[in-house]
Amino acid sequence: MVSTLKAAAAGDQTQQDSPRLKLAVQKSGRLTDPSLDLLSRCGLKLSRGKDQLIGYGENLPLDVLFVRDDDIPDLVQEDVCDLGLVGLNVLTEKSLQLTARGFAPSFRQLRDLDFGRCRLALAAPDSFHYAGPSTLQGRRIATTYPQALQKYLRERGVVADIVTLSGAVEIAPRLGRADLICDLVSTGSTLAANHLRELDTVLESHAVLIQTPKPLVPEKAEWVRRLTLRIDGVQQVRESKYIMLHAPRSALPTIRQLLPGTEAPTILPLEGATDKVAVHAVCRENVFWETLENLKQAGASALLVLPVEKMLR
Ligand code: PRP
Ligand code: ZN
Repeated sequence: MVSTLKAAAAGDQTQQDSPRLKLAVQKSGRLTDPSLDLLSRCGLKLSRGKDQLIGYGENLPLDVLFVRDDDIPDLVQEDVCDLGLVGLNVLTEKSLQLTARGFAPSFRQLRDLDFGRCRLALAAPDSFHYAGPSTLQGRRIATTYPQALQKYLRERGVVADIVTLSGAVEIAPRLGRADLICDLVSTGSTLAANHLRELDTVLESHAVLIQTPKPLVPEKAEWVRRLTLRIDGVQQVRESKYIMLHAPRSALPTIRQLLPGTEAPTILPLEGATDKVAVHAVCRENVFWETLENLKQAGASALLVLPVEKMLR
C-alpha cells in the first residue's frame, strides 16, 4: 500500500512545475469528513474522481492523498507525504511502536485540531466485576492498540495477556477470545450494541496535523505556514461570535466582565444619546442565552449575536 502511494506521489511530482504539498487524509472513517471540511474552510478546492487515491488542489499547491489512517504516520515519517491529518490515538500507537523497536519517532506535531475527539478505553461485558486496574491482572484484553495498552498496564504494575487483533475488537469477548477489550469509544454506541461497559480511559484523542521530519523547500514551507494560520483562523472562528449591544456607560465595567472570551470591545457613541454607547466585541466562546439574559440584567439592550465567517490574527 505504502509503495503504491510512493509511486503515485512521485508520478504526480514530475507533472507539476512548482513543488506541491502532499497531505495524507483518512480515506473513509471518523476523520474523513471533518478533515475535508477543515481544508475547504481553509479555502482549498479539491478535484477528486470517485474512489481516487489523490485529490488535486485546484486553487492551492496542495494535493490530498486518501489513505488508511493507520498508514498516515509512516507516510509522513518516511517523507512520502509532507503533512498528515491523523488521530492522536494512531499517532501515539505508532510512536510507541517505533520506540519499542529502538527508533525515535520524528514527525513534527504542528497543531491540535478541534475534531475527531474520542478515547481509547477499556471495556468489559456487563457482568464483569471491575474494582480498579488490579482487576485486570492475568486477564486477556483484545485490542488494535497493543502498545498504548501495554504502557497503561505497565504504569499500573499490571500484567495481562494482550490479544492483538486487526479489527472487530468489540466481538472478541463474545467469541471467547478475550475477557475485556481496549478500543476507541466515540459516541459509545458500539459498546452499547455489544453489551460492553466502559471501565477506564487509556488515552484521550483528537485529530492532529503532523509534518515530515525532513526540511521543506522554501515554497512548501511558506504554504505550510499559510495553511496553519488559516487552520488557526478556522478553529478560532468555530467558537467565536460577534456581539453588538447598547448599554449605559455606567454599566460598561459589568458588561465587559460578562462578555465571554473578549479582549478589547469597541465602544461607539450613539447618535442623540449622551449616556448610552454601542458595544461591539468578538467573543471567542459561544454566547449562550444565559449570557444574554445576564447582559440585559446589567443594563444592556438591543442585543445582537452574529456568527463570524473568517478571522486572521
Ligand atoms: C472505532 C472503534 C469502534 C467505533 C466506536 O472504530 O473500533 O468500532 O469506532 O465508535 P462509537 O463509540 O461512536 O460507536 P473506527 O471507526 O475508528 O475504525 P478504525 O479504528 O478501523 O479506524
Ligand atoms: Zn484505522
